[in-house]
Amino acid sequence: MPPCLCIQERSLSLAKRRTKYVCQQCGLESASYYGRCPDCGAWGSLVETVEAPAAAIGKSSARRVGNATAPQPLSSVPSASVSRRPLPMMEFSRVLGGGVVPGSLVLVGGDPGIGKSTLLLQAAADLSANAEAVLYVTAEESVQQVKLRAERVGAGVDHLYVLSETNIDDVIAAAESLGPVVVIIDSIQTVFTPDISSAAGSVSQVRECTTRLVAFAKPRDVAVFIVGHVTKEGSIAGPRVLEHMVDAVLYLEGDRFHQYRILRAVKNRFGSTDEVGVFEMVERGMREVRNPSEAFLEERPGNAAGSTVVVTMEGTRPILVEVQGLTSTSAFGNARRTANGIDLSRIQMLVAVLSKRVGLSLADQDVFVNVVGGMKLSEPAADLGVALSIASSYRESRVDPRLVAIGEVGLAGELRSVSQLERRLQEAAKLGFERAVVPAALGRGLVRPPAGLEIVRASTLDEAIDRSLDR
Ligand code: TYD
Ligand code: MG
Repeated sequence: MPPCLCIQERSLSLAKRRTKYVCQQCGLESASYYGRCPDCGAWGSLVETVEAPAAAIGKSSARRVGNATAPQPLSSVPSASVSRRPLPMMEFSRVLGGGVVPGSLVLVGGDPGIGKSTLLLQAAADLSANAEAVLYVTAEESVQQVKLRAERVGAGVDHLYVLSETNIDDVIAAAESLGPVVVIIDSIQTVFTPDISSAAGSVSQVRECTTRLVAFAKPRDVAVFIVGHVTKEGSIAGPRVLEHMVDAVLYLEGDRFHQYRILRAVKNRFGSTDEVGVFEMVERGMREVRNPSEAFLEERPGNAAGSTVVVTMEGTRPILVEVQGLTSTSAFGNARRTANGIDLSRIQMLVAVLSKRVGLSLADQDVFVNVVGGMKLSEPAADLGVALSIASSYRESRVDPRLVAIGEVGLAGELRSVSQLERRLQEAAKLGFERAVVPAALGRGLVRPPAGLEIVRASTLDEAIDRSLDR
């Protein structure tokens, strides 16, 4: 039997496409690959890209809406109101800015095993509950595995379609014939296009597949969720290479050995990036945590000395972390300083400041600092919290459990300003904290402290300790 006409046509159009290598540093285009750019000399900067013939570009530019080729006064452009599909999962909906926007591309990134597939399957089932088709493309798992998971989380699946496929062109063809309102691609690193010779998951594959999804989704008003695994340096491209191509970027974070997960928007063209959604991974999937402050405080030893909550920024993201400190009289001559999740030299510096400027005699004390939950603190803004924890343990006096500490500690014992104080305070207020101790200079410049958060200004570490510890 001769092959179907449409397949012939597609392979013809594929043959017309040409691949080239483009330097990401200087923009040099080359027909062959070089490990080092012959022009600017950068190593490993050439990325394979598909060059579609001009005719094909014209045809595929269905993204052009109306008469967009001629410049027009902005005032004559009709304002479009964004209609959203709200999700019953409020935490998810909020992070999206109030619901799923038709025609939007949302990247959901996170470590492998954190719960991206579970969360999106639950969202897909919720969206299909209004009798509209939703397509879940699983490029990593079999349809049976997806079915098992759906049963486990108790998802209604009447209008939920599942497709196990890795070729992005076949995925798009299937989506075109099904006509779903939402498509979920799980994951972008396992789909590929045969037009590019590099392996699935490489920068060029990930970019090209996303470009094709954008071209598919925009004119048809289909919302697309793209799952991207965060990877360590290596041959697999992480979600970062896609951030500029999509409308919203959400990261699902947390320690997969603990139950809490935080969904955070780092980019959102249709909403604010200040929102976080908190979930709990339970036996039957992801459950929303409506009152995160309580959930986070649950495991904190409320009455024990040596525990402080700090607000650290991860890129644009504020995260609240508990820092624990412990001091105990050293049995040996040389007192030890041990740090887990924070740079040891920072601890040594803070111990020196606490000894010299605050007057704690730590010379014969072993000092242990632990950042709870496996987080790594790299910011000086966590200094104050770390110092408070050590001082609190040494003095056997508890830090107010409803307080967060933000500030860098200088060698003279002074508290120094930190960036993005407002965002940190908003996050603290959002998670239910009632007091924040901040560097005095910063606190005065604060235009609008969040409601319900008392700002305690301190100019030195000594003063901050005085005002944060129970007496
Ligand atoms: P998964 O969604 O597959 O993660 P990702 O897609 O981000 O790689 O979730 C993986 C983990 O979640 C897995 O270790 C099992 C656990 N899990 C539960 O605890 N409860 C559940 O109901 C489900 C479906 C998974
Ligand atoms: Mg998965």
